[in-house]
Amino acid sequence: MAGYVPCGKVAVKGAAGPGSGAREVSGEVVGPDRTCVIGAGPSGLAAVKALAEAGLDFDCFEKSDRVGGNWVFGNRNGQSRIYRSLHINNSRQRMAYADFPMPADYPDFPHHALMARYFEAYAAAFGLHRRITFGTAVMRAEREEPGRWQLTLADGTIRCYRALVVANGHHWDPRWPEPPVPGPFAGEIIHAHDYVAPDEPIDFAGKRVVVVGMGNSAMDIACELSRPGIAERLYLSARRGAWVIPNYVLGRPMDRLGVGAAWLPWRVQSLMAELLIRLVVGAPWRFGLPRPDHPPLAAHQTVSQDLPVRLGRGDVVPKPAIRELQGRSVLFADGSTVEADVLIYCTGYQVSFPFFAPEFLAAPGNELPLWRRLLQPGEEDLFFLGLLQPLGAVMPIAEAQAKLIAALLAGHYRLPSTQRMRREQERDDAARQHRYVASARHTMQVDFDRYLADLARERRAGERRAKLRLRPGAAAPS
Ligand SMILES: Cc1cc2nc3c(=O)[nH]c(=O)nc-3n(C[C@H](O)[C@H](O)[C@H](O)COP(=O)(O)OP(=O)(O)OC[C@H]3O[C@@H](n4cnc5c(N)ncnc54)[C@H](O)[C@@H]3O)c2cc1C
Ligand SMILES: NC(=O)c1ccc[n+]([C@@H]2O[C@H](COP(=O)([O-])OP(=O)(O)OC[C@H]3O[C@@H](n4cnc5c(N)ncnc54)[C@H](OP(=O)(O)O)[C@@H]3O)[C@@H](O)[C@H]2O)c1
Repeated sequence: MAGYVPCGKVAVKGAAGPGSGAREVSGEVVGPDRTCVIGAGPSGLAAVKALAEAGLDFDCFEKSDRVGGNWVFGNRNGQSRIYRSLHINNSRQRMAYADFPMPADYPDFPHHALMARYFEAYAAAFGLHRRITFGTAVMRAEREEPGRWQLTLADGTIRCYRALVVANGHHWDPRWPEPPVPGPFAGEIIHAHDYVAPDEPIDFAGKRVVVVGMGNSAMDIACELSRPGIAERLYLSARRGAWVIPNYVLGRPMDRLGVGAAWLPWRVQSLMAELLIRLVVGAPWRFGLPRPDHPPLAAHQTVSQDLPVRLGRGDVVPKPAIRELQGRSVLFADGSTVEADVLIYCTGYQVSFPFFAPEFLAAPGNELPLWRRLLQPGEEDLFFLGLLQPLGAVMPIAEAQAKLIAALLAGHYRLPSTQRMRREQERDDAARQHRYVASARHTMQVDFDRYLADLARERRAGERRAKLRLRPGAAAPS
């Protein structure tokens, strides 16, 4: 490969200096026994804390000038983009790291500005800022051999590592309809990722807008733009129905009711959720939305207290899938047509790793099978953090994953055998496919409480394996 420099052979730009992570040996820069974390968003931060607490050597490179990733409005990393009105849709208790609760005076569903402050406070409380190299993007990551990575940074510096923790996020690369919707459109087309506010990137006042999708981006954007005085007409186009979950039930955030307890079979949880939705809000088809073709907990949660009211007031007009675009007209699957000025595709995100050669690793169709959503069996030098879609929040999961990785790298936890990991991965994938609607948004879906309980159990088992192995003469357990 052109420009490729094996880590162990040639001195590299950026050289070996204090804190560089490299060691100079007879004129050569050799790979140190270090781990590299890519990204200091909520997932990468959890890794930095766990690796630091385990006393491990590591570097963390963050493209941006600050921590928090997606939760930093106007993030300078050029990839995270959130809208001005965004609030979390899990309760704050659900979204907090286990060892760092959000301040008690935070509301149940804080605004993104409070979330960004929370991540800054987390980093400050545990002294994480100084462990992160800001303003530094990882451009290329190549495995020279197992346990030996060569990383190229944006300034051309090359560094070597024994292990890589990938925490680059997976909600920043827009997924557009594939295949594209047929026909030309004479108005403007944007993705939810481009949407900032009712006047940015387009002035939506007086516009006829079609919002496509039934995920949380579609809910928030449709509700915001349909407020009187903004869009002239707001159509919500859904190719599939969704059980729209209210934020509150009986005055409590719905995810605080204990419906998701790990020991309850998911079908029972789902029946309970459906009952609550029907009682509190009503079935979605009563508001003109398509009838869901699945039980509530067989899809990623779509949360909106507002949507039923906006539909009930006629501010949002439900429509089925788009069949064809015809200049200013949009033809829907039921044969109806509307005139529109703007189309907003809230069609989700694709999983991308720009620093890996695509032939080395990619996730076509968002498919990247991993053992426990952490690693590929047999590849124990490459870990993924937060690369999942929980029915719940990402942070406590990334935190538990990070602690397990740190324990593994520190030798306090031992992975099961490769064969066993493969079997478990196949079992988990089959269960996921059996449960969730077949869609690119569900390729990495996990159940929050169950995932955390399973990972905790696995960690205890791996700690026992590590202890057994340390005992002289003990056979390695599978
Ligand atoms: C509109 C929206 C609303 C959401 N709301 C919720 C919610 O309410 N609850 C919830 O749990 N989740 C929500 N999410 C999901 C969101 O992805 C997670 O909350 C969280 O941000 C994931 O953290 P992360 O660290 O994995 O990824 P990110 O937040 O995306 O952080 C990734 C970090 O890696 C850095 N990075 C990327 N590539 C490189 C590189 N090559 N070199 C160096 N640094 C790099 C980035 O700069 C960034 O700081 C939402 C997502 C969106 C889009
Ligand atoms: N307030 C909040 O907290 C908030 C706000 C926004 C987003 N988020 C989070 O951010 C993540 C991304 O959410 P998202 O809503 O942007 O994406 P998403 O959850 O992936 O939802 C995408 C939606 O678009 C539909 N879709 C995909 N391709 C389509 C096509 N070709 N034609 C028509 N419809 C299509 C999907 O339908 P199918 O089901 O049929 O595939 C789905 O309804 C999620 O984790 C979400 O929870 C949170």
